[in-house]
Amino acid sequence: MESTRSSSPNPAQGTRSSTWCRDLLITLVCTVAIALLLVQYDDFDAAAYPSEELAKKPVFEVPRVNSHVLHGSEKVGEGQLLGPEDIVYDPKLGVIYTSCSDGWIKRVRLSDSEVEDWVNTGGRPLGLALGNSGEVYVADAYKGVLKITEDGAIEVLTNEAEGIKFGLTDAVTVTKNGILYFTDATWKYELHNCVLDIFEGRPHGRLMSYDPSTKQTKVLARDLYFANGIEISPDQDFVIFCETPMMRCMRYYIQGEKEGSIDVFIDRLVGLPDNIRYDGEGHGEGQYWIAINTEHTYSWDLARKYPYIRKVLAFLEKYQKRPSVEKNAGAIVVDLDGKLVERYYEPELTLVTTGIKIGEHLYLGNLMTSFITRLNLTQYPATPSSLTN
Ligand SMILES: *[C@@H]1O[C@H](CO)[C@@H](O)[C@H](O)[C@H]1NC(C)=O
Repeated sequence: MESTRSSSPNPAQGTRSSTWCRDLLITLVCTVAIALLLVQYDDFDAAAYPSEELAKKPVFEVPRVNSHVLHGSEKVGEGQLLGPEDIVYDPKLGVIYTSCSDGWIKRVRLSDSEVEDWVNTGGRPLGLALGNSGEVYVADAYKGVLKITEDGAIEVLTNEAEGIKFGLTDAVTVTKNGILYFTDATWKYELHNCVLDIFEGRPHGRLMSYDPSTKQTKVLARDLYFANGIEISPDQDFVIFCETPMMRCMRYYIQGEKEGSIDVFIDRLVGLPDNIRYDGEGHGEGQYWIAINTEHTYSWDLARKYPYIRKVLAFLEKYQKRPSVEKNAGAIVVDLDGKLVERYYEPELTLVTTGIKIGEHLYLGNLMTSFITRLNLTQYPATPSSLTN
């Protein structure tokens, strides 16, 4: 009662409120204890990430930055492009292809943003690559690597290697000789629960190649941490692929002296990388665009360090109660030597999966939107950052 509460304090009420407090405390402690016990007996087994990787701090200083990438941007194909994960440009037709969550690969004419339902894979197309004769290669999360001819016929090229089926075919790129290089992010999980792979902290990813002339699939590297986006270098001497939870991109040499070896192209990324795209046509002064799902946040740092936290997160994920901690998604630009030159992001953006510059524009694909974000970079460029000297 209001009147009782506002009246002068009496000893009985003090006792009542402290009892109430104690009850609340007991309830809280019991709830937490039960939750911890449940998690304890959950059989999800999270592993420690390699300590030398944990010791690497992300680099937040970038020479040029645009921290409001949505400002001045347009929505391309709004309502028609569901979760456009990857984008590939066909300069001959003046269209982009994009991979959507309803199975459609849609084609968008750049001159007037007209959207066309091109081909439905019946799965979940992710990474795309344009072949040398107008065909499109698709990394379909559920179906493997597909070839789609210009007239829309679908062929499954490969979906397993060394007796292990792909769990989450993620990205694909093609050389001028027609050899495909692609990633399987994890053989253990599927797209719908792939975040568990990152929470588990063990490397289930593979880098592979497929030669259409022999129909052979080769495993080039195994034990990768969530092998994600992939891109061929302009000189066709290596492929670069992203290892998302390691916040780095690796380089696998496909010819020359270093053929077959792997080194780090860029690490200590500002966040979790997804697709990588080269913006140059042929040789020359192009740059790589690496999509950043989310910035490296304090909570992600803790989760990465402590397997127990990831176990709790995996438990919460099962009941769809996991807090969302993603922020500052966008894309970074890296030069041919692996040096970070620009960053484009927006505080409230999450799950940007691809970024590519076509002409004057930056195009961003995103799992959370029903459109592609387009920004005129001449009008809204990244500008020198005050963080650097
Ligand atoms: C992009 O912005 C620049 C500078 O405002 C403008 O000159 C150009 O026409 C724009 N490009 C397109 C394709 O709209």
